[in-house]
Amino acid sequence: MAKIVLAAGASVAIYKACDLASKLAQDGHTVRAVLTPRAAKLISPQLFEAVTGEPAAVDEFGPARRGAMDHIEFAKWAELLIVAPASAGLVARLAHGQAEDLVTTLALALPPERPRLIAPAMNPTMLESRPVQRNLALLREDGWRVLEPGAGHMACGDEGSGRLPEPAELVRAVREALKK
Ligand SMILES: Cc1cc2nc3c(=O)[nH]c(=O)nc-3n(C[C@H](O)[C@H](O)[C@H](O)COP(=O)(O)O)c2cc1C
Repeated sequence: MAKIVLAAGASVAIYKACDLASKLAQDGHTVRAVLTPRAAKLISPQLFEAVTGEPAAVDEFGPARRGAMDHIEFAKWAELLIVAPASAGLVARLAHGQAEDLVTTLALALPPERPRLIAPAMNPTMLESRPVQRNLALLREDGWRVLEPGAGHMACGDEGSGRLPEPAELVRAVREALKK
């Protein structure tokens, strides 16, 4: 059983990340959620704490965090990092090492041998756009396992590829990555 950081960006699919956190915890893993500040506007980190029984983090700063360096602590702690859902913005920051929040900073501090998975979730046209495809290619080059988005009906009303895979599928991907 592993120590897992589940990081999430501000995608409408974030509601599925809570179920993923719960399923990973039920699988016996210790799961800590880290949300980008914009993700935390869509969903409360407290919900992740409730389903994982572990602290969830968003902000590295603020009086309560004085003396702490969560990005290093989380990166040393994690045996596997899964980013689900990854918005287009988060994909771009991770691909370019733009360390402007806890998720992107801890990803940079994660030791290179630790498995890192990313599940992009966005509108099909955004997903197919050249910048997003370029950024996903960069992530693959850097050793990220990019999980294939599902196809179907999107929250915006469009049909196509860009859906976050179902949590059970993401759990299977985590199991596989841990076997290697
Ligand atoms: C309700 C809502 C749903 C959104 N869903 C998505 C999404 O599924 N994928 C995406 O790339 N951006 C989505 N966006 C836009 C992102 O939230 C926006 O680009 C944001 O800056 C990304 O923040 P992050 O980089 O911290 O994830 C959504 C915005 C809102 C308000």
